Amino acid sequence: MHITNYSSCIMVIFGGTGDLAHRKLLPAIYNLYSQKKLSHNFAVVAIGRRAKTSDEYREEVLDSLHAFLKFDVEKEVWNSIKNKIYYKEMDFSEGESYQGLNIDLMEIDDRHNTCGNRMYYMAVAPEFFGTIVDNLKINCMKSNYNAWNRVVIEKPFGRDLNSARLLNNKIVEVFKEENTYRIDHYLGKEMLQNIMVIRFANMLFEPLWNNKFIDHIQISSSETVGVGGRGNYYEKSGALRDMVQSHMLQLLSLIAMEPPNDLETKSIRDEKVKVLKSLGRSKIADINEVIVRGQYGGLVDDSDEILAYRNENKVSESSNTETFVALKVNIENFRWSGVPFYIRTGKRMKKKSTEIVIQFKSLHNILYFKEKELLPNMLVIRVQPTEGVFFQFNAKEPGTQNNIIPVNMDFCQNCHIGINSPEAYERLLSDVIRGDATLFARWDEVEYSWRFVDQIFEAWEDTNPQFPNYKPWTWGPKESDDLLKKDNRSWINF
Ligand code: BG6
Repeated sequence: MHITNYSSCIMVIFGGTGDLAHRKLLPAIYNLYSQKKLSHNFAVVAIGRRAKTSDEYREEVLDSLHAFLKFDVEKEVWNSIKNKIYYKEMDFSEGESYQGLNIDLMEIDDRHNTCGNRMYYMAVAPEFFGTIVDNLKINCMKSNYNAWNRVVIEKPFGRDLNSARLLNNKIVEVFKEENTYRIDHYLGKEMLQNIMVIRFANMLFEPLWNNKFIDHIQISSSETVGVGGRGNYYEKSGALRDMVQSHMLQLLSLIAMEPPNDLETKSIRDEKVKVLKSLGRSKIADINEVIVRGQYGGLVDDSDEILAYRNENKVSESSNTETFVALKVNIENFRWSGVPFYIRTGKRMKKKSTEIVIQFKSLHNILYFKEKELLPNMLVIRVQPTEGVFFQFNAKEPGTQNNIIPVNMDFCQNCHIGINSPEAYERLLSDVIRGDATLFARWDEVEYSWRFVDQIFEAWEDTNPQFPNYKPWTWGPKESDDLLKKDNRSWINF
């Protein structure tokens, strides 16, 4: 009888020849292996439709490692890991092919002593998820070992609440909720894991983290790139589905959640879901008052032409898909009532950056409030590319005058030599193997975030946006600035 070793497993990647596998998954596996965070009893089976041998696939993986790793590939590590990587040519929409897959997996189990444990990674379009899980159930999940079977689902998890629900029913019927890992790669980012520590391990912040002391919160994630080769996907998605429903609402829930009873997966998820639940509690009264959408135009200069979104590959010339969205959200609960959360995300913006700004209320005091108002205290959690925390406060300017100026404390985590934060996928893959689902979205988190964004789509259906409405490498459409201006506030653009 095989004794189950919980870190031994085969990782089966549906979509093994795709971008995600080459850019993120295989480099993450290589890094984990080189840092000895993976068992020797481990193998990868990459599934794709194209004909190729495992040796040919390994060569492609090596090219990707050269292209996407931060450091050089170490020969010794590669020689050791490469024989654990297999390629399987298979049409995963055909039921019959799964018997062959099962035979191969059992052989690989025996060769690498992986104890029958399987991680099935869905790096394919969601329309295939149903067929794949059905066929896995019939053919590949009856091992005699006392083994685990986990499924990892990439976003998008559905395209609205209904489709997400159908997809979810299908998946949990086969794998059960506890073995379903819905990836949101933002949760694997170092600073997202740091949010709870910053909040709940500091006397300086936690007592002030509420509507008595905080004026508003900004959550911004901007990218300089356009949609590039992903026009096909993006046309069906847009910024609201692509970024807000998943990453931005996860950020919001970590910033706004109550302290959990303990650090157990369930306790943390229970608190996050309460935030998402309260978002959808009341209908947004006038969507156009609180939500701005945008789409980038093009730019021609002497040397280059930057395509407008509508001219990108596989994008309709009259597309109304949004590449930018800014919204004002209220969390109607005891802690946050009256504190607006402004969320903003877009492509082709001025800077690649993800930051959370906590703006404290102004201190109207008669001692120092003279000619000009003092700047309020501000805490900025920098998620990427800089990872760190920035805190702005008031101090006296050196000199004989009693001038007050804003000064700051700036902690940059990844500027220090020797600190190399792991890539999000390293952390997440290692958590799946260890069976820790804390950094994955539970079904009810997905459900409530769809409930919230679905009402925005409904309202958008009746209106025709005037696109394109922002120039490349700007902070988005003017209406986004107006959204805050109406409240006498402005975006903090570092
Ligand atoms: C993905 C989106 O989930 O996140 C992409 O589908 C986006 O459109 C990406 O570019 C951004 O991730 P990151 O880690 O670069 O901020």
